[in-house]
Amino acid sequence: MPGRNALFVPGPTNTPDRILRAMHRAMEDHRSSSFPSLTRPILSDLRRVFRTEEGQCFVFPATGTGMWEAALANTLSPGDRVLASRYGQFGHLFIDCAQRLGLRVDVQDEEWGTGANPQRIEDALRADANHEIKGVLVVHNETATGVTSDIAAVRRAIDAAHHPALLYVDTVSGLVSLPFEMDAWGVDAAITGSQKGFMLPAGLGLLGMSRRALAKRESARCARVFFDLGDMMTANAGGYFPYTPSVPLLYGLRESLDIIFEEGLDAIHARHHRLAEGCRAAVRAWGLSLCATEPTWASDTVSAVMVPPGIDGAAVIDVAYRRYDLALGAGLSRMAGKLFRIGHLGDLNELMLLGALAGVELALRDVGIPITFGSGVAAAQDWFRATAAPLAPRDGAGSPDAQTRAASPSRERMAVVR
Ligand SMILES: Cc1ncc(COP(=O)(O)O)c(C=O)c1O
Repeated sequence: MPGRNALFVPGPTNTPDRILRAMHRAMEDHRSSSFPSLTRPILSDLRRVFRTEEGQCFVFPATGTGMWEAALANTLSPGDRVLASRYGQFGHLFIDCAQRLGLRVDVQDEEWGTGANPQRIEDALRADANHEIKGVLVVHNETATGVTSDIAAVRRAIDAAHHPALLYVDTVSGLVSLPFEMDAWGVDAAITGSQKGFMLPAGLGLLGMSRRALAKRESARCARVFFDLGDMMTANAGGYFPYTPSVPLLYGLRESLDIIFEEGLDAIHARHHRLAEGCRAAVRAWGLSLCATEPTWASDTVSAVMVPPGIDGAAVIDVAYRRYDLALGAGLSRMAGKLFRIGHLGDLNELMLLGALAGVELALRDVGIPITFGSGVAAAQDWFRATAAPLAPRDGAGSPDAQTRAASPSRERMAVVR
């Protein structure tokens, strides 16, 4: 199909051309004397993104799943108890990882469409008078249901129970795109991957560990080889890796960090919120609802849209992809067929999202959902226009050329006036 595939799954996200160019290079010796000049700034700049001064960041040739394993295996021993909230497929898989490592998991099931329940976490920890529970596992942004949990409130719950459990947070579809405060929220293990907010291909697992978590390495007995943080720390101290790193992905990560700092984390969060609100306005205008049961749960990186009874969500995704070259996220596990997901994270702007919303409208009508064409797009347009930033003065506003332009109403100016 001509034109670009419209990639609106909640990861992998669009990779900016700048990053593609940065990664397009000949291989080089990862043990050369100059390699640390690439590695060291990356590791220290990552701490600015995780928002930690006291913690340490790690980069593995892996994905988010590997970082679940790395975080748990380096801090816990088989038979240890952990408490985990489950409100979606990724929380479910995080628990599965813990169980396969030999941990005993106390699962707190929450309704899918809601998130972590700080009060229930506090109650469970208070009931654990002997402090057998070694860790609390939560997913910051449950990509399967489009729900964001309040991690600061989870930390407050742990503190209110005066419990020493470590806090493990999966922020695979949160970090960069959503506010995340590793130090301020007392997160001990922050887990993510390269293919969402970092706008890179999949292939890097990124992990932030608090000092408290790293101190558990000595006593942790879970088996670890590839994911051993001790090996990684020894090699990283010199600016190297214990095995062959993905050199193109590291150059891509360097560029990604530069792009993130140029826009600024606050601006990135505000952009994601505004785009998400536009998407939510469209969903309302179609008369559909989100999987998130309350607005407070709704994620700014992915909207999981419920389809009406009798309609197969998978059909929406299939027709969108095959007929309009629009990639939407599928309903996972118990949500299969019940919803489709619109990813709105990463390198994204209003017009890209409006195009995707138009594509969703086509697909919805194709599968028999009687929405009015343009209704969702118009609702998002209204929102984007109402919340547009004031135009900055044009460069060279005082130049003779600019004065001439000001005297004759150009098409551009008319567009603003209208
Ligand atoms: C919230 C969440 N956690 C974990 C994962 C697994 O990450 P990966 O596919 O990078 O292993 C994903 C992937 O989409 C995710 O969205």
